[in-house]
Amino acid sequence: MVWTMSEIIKPRVMQKLQEEIRRRVKGKASVEESDIAQMPYVKLVVKEALRLHSTVPFLLTRECVKQCQIGGYDIYLGTRVLINAWGIGRDPKVWTETAFVFNPERLENAELDRSEMIPFGGVRRACPASSVATQVVEFTIANLFYFFDWQLSSGMKNQELDMEEVGSLIVVRKTPLCLRVIAFVQHGVVDYLPLWIICQRYVGLEKEDAIVDYLPEICGPRERGWSIP
Ligand code: HEM
Repeated sequence: MVWTMSEIIKPRVMQKLQEEIRRRVKGKASVEESDIAQMPYVKLVVKEALRLHSTVPFLLTRECVKQCQIGGYDIYLGTRVLINAWGIGRDPKVWTETAFVFNPERLENAELDRSEMIPFGGVRRACPASSVATQVVEFTIANLFYFFDWQLSSGMKNQELDMEEVGSLIVVRKTPLCLRVIAFVQHGVVDYLPLWIICQRYVGLEKEDAIVDYLPEICGPRERGWSIP
């Protein structure tokens, strides 16, 4: 979620994403799960984020149970094998010289087999939750970008956003993602509190990091409880 948010914050992507979400959901008080099927760009964005930011870079360690040869190399019985999912998702031979660039459109009509990106691993030890996890991220992103506009905090320019990674088992941002959140109000009184909790729990926003701008005359007074708890 955090890497996906970090990539979406780029103006071109965010604008296109919000246009799609708001066009589909227009007039409704919430995004429904069935709406997501009509949001191809949301799906491309989440998939591209998984390609570029493989959460588990070396997958679960495998052990060779039968001596074999791969690419001319002998792999002996008992050898521990690390599979570089991070590298596979960024391989210039597959993804061209723009492999490191976030570009959801590259996946439009792309015919991929199961080896060109493996953010959920593969074969017998593949993530059993790949389908539900993807759907949850898509649904959460659609909600966050339907109800809120997002900006980098304190006038920071997009190119200044630090995308450095740290970690080994799991790759996370080196610096926290600090965003400014602006409630998007077009349908009267909406209870934003559950979404705000999502922002805090899953996007990692801290109280000090983010500011919610809101329109009390439309959303109702602060006591309604949807502003920063
Ligand atoms: C976007 C979210 C997620 C990503 C990117 C992800 C990624 C992965 C990866 C890369 C592996 C290792 C696969 C391999 O080595 O071949 C894995 C394993 C696993 N994941 Fe996920 N996962 C996600 C969400 C979840 C969720 C929500 C659950 C549970 C509800 C889950 C449960 C598991 C389990 C149980 C395994 C171990 C499977 C085994 O060893 O047989 N994952 N996941």
